[in-house]
Amino acid sequence: MRRFLLWLNRAGYAGLLRPLIFRTSSAQQAHAHMLHLLRFADGQPWLAGLLGALRRAMMPPAPVAVGGVQLEHPLILAAGLVKGEGFADEAAALDAVHTGRNIIPGWRTIPALAGPVEFGSYTRWPRSGNPGTVLWREPATASTQNRVGLRNPGVLAAAAFLAARKRELPAQYGINIAVSPGVDDPDRQTEEVLTSLHAFLERGVYPTWFTLNLSCPNTEDDPGGNQTADLAEQLCSAAVACLREAETAAGRTIPLWVKVGPDLSTAQYHALLRVFAAVGVRAVIATNTLGLPAPGDGALMAGVGGGRLHAPALAAVRALVEERTAGGWPVDVIACGGVQDGATYRDFAALGVRAAQYWSALVYRGPYAAALIQAEMAGEHGE
Ligand SMILES: Cc1cc2nc3c(=O)[nH]c(=O)nc-3n(C[C@H](O)[C@H](O)[C@H](O)COP(=O)(O)O)c2cc1C
Repeated sequence: MRRFLLWLNRAGYAGLLRPLIFRTSSAQQAHAHMLHLLRFADGQPWLAGLLGALRRAMMPPAPVAVGGVQLEHPLILAAGLVKGEGFADEAAALDAVHTGRNIIPGWRTIPALAGPVEFGSYTRWPRSGNPGTVLWREPATASTQNRVGLRNPGVLAAAAFLAARKRELPAQYGINIAVSPGVDDPDRQTEEVLTSLHAFLERGVYPTWFTLNLSCPNTEDDPGGNQTADLAEQLCSAAVACLREAETAAGRTIPLWVKVGPDLSTAQYHALLRVFAAVGVRAVIATNTLGLPAPGDGALMAGVGGGRLHAPALAAVRALVEERTAGGWPVDVIACGGVQDGATYRDFAALGVRAAQYWSALVYRGPYAAALIQAEMAGEHGE
């Protein structure tokens, strides 16, 4: 049964659905259709139950201890899919929550399909994101490119929305927060990080982990700007202290993970890893997308994920693991960049990585990408 379901998914998506989607819709149209479908599916709890049962039938538990948590599976859906609508201001976002609108499409359905999911990124204030075409795909290299621009409803509306569904949230999920692009003053950045964490914690929304996203390459911001050792130390130490204070109320520890970009020097990765260890960050996700000129407009930057990110992400992970091993630091490295099948996962596993995040695999392998990759990781199923 399990093998049949895996085969059906692999063959059905690669042979039928993917060609159909790629032929009939641009990346952006396909994304919009998917969000539309997710909004509908979230309103049907029985459907999430069915989709979750199918996933469990294909994906036996493969528990792994990483970043201070015990994960059900070593594959986590990366931030950027389950994050929600953009709004022009906070009042409009909160209003939408109060009227019962599903402002975070996929909040129920995607965890059923994928298992562990990282929600976000959420910023202190809502953001409408960039106008025009913001999403592309490059099938020849199994890559995606985006300049969505951190479109999201803001931490207060996201927290209010999730708090109203506390009992229905998945058993394991992360929340990814980011500083607003354009806020450069370190003290204001720290204030934003703390306000963002408090927004969730004060409403009793206790994720399995929080991720602080230090790298936003598609917002016309300096992508390396938040990734200096000094600033990372200030932001992360404040966040770790805040999460420690919340332990009693949460009834458990909530670890802090950090997400970095793929374009730092080896020395910079080494310095950051030492900072993370010193302040109590439990895992580093490497990496976010790689900022490159957008298709059709070289003046704009857009973040590349998938196949074209794999080599730079491997180099970043190698540098981080090197320093972790040299110093014996208790900071796990979570891979992210072009994990789309067993072979690309094993490239990271060979460096000592025990868990990975993925995004573009959803586009190229379909909604049960995690189940397919996990089977291939174990060498069970032909790739
Ligand atoms: C459309 C889109 C939106 C994204 N938004 C975010 C985001 O809000 N926060 C974040 O940390 N990463 C975001 N990402 C980056 C992914 O989480 C991931 O780091 C990246 O796509 C690399 O993984 P992949 O090679 O498996 O695609 C986004 C990616 C895509 C394609």
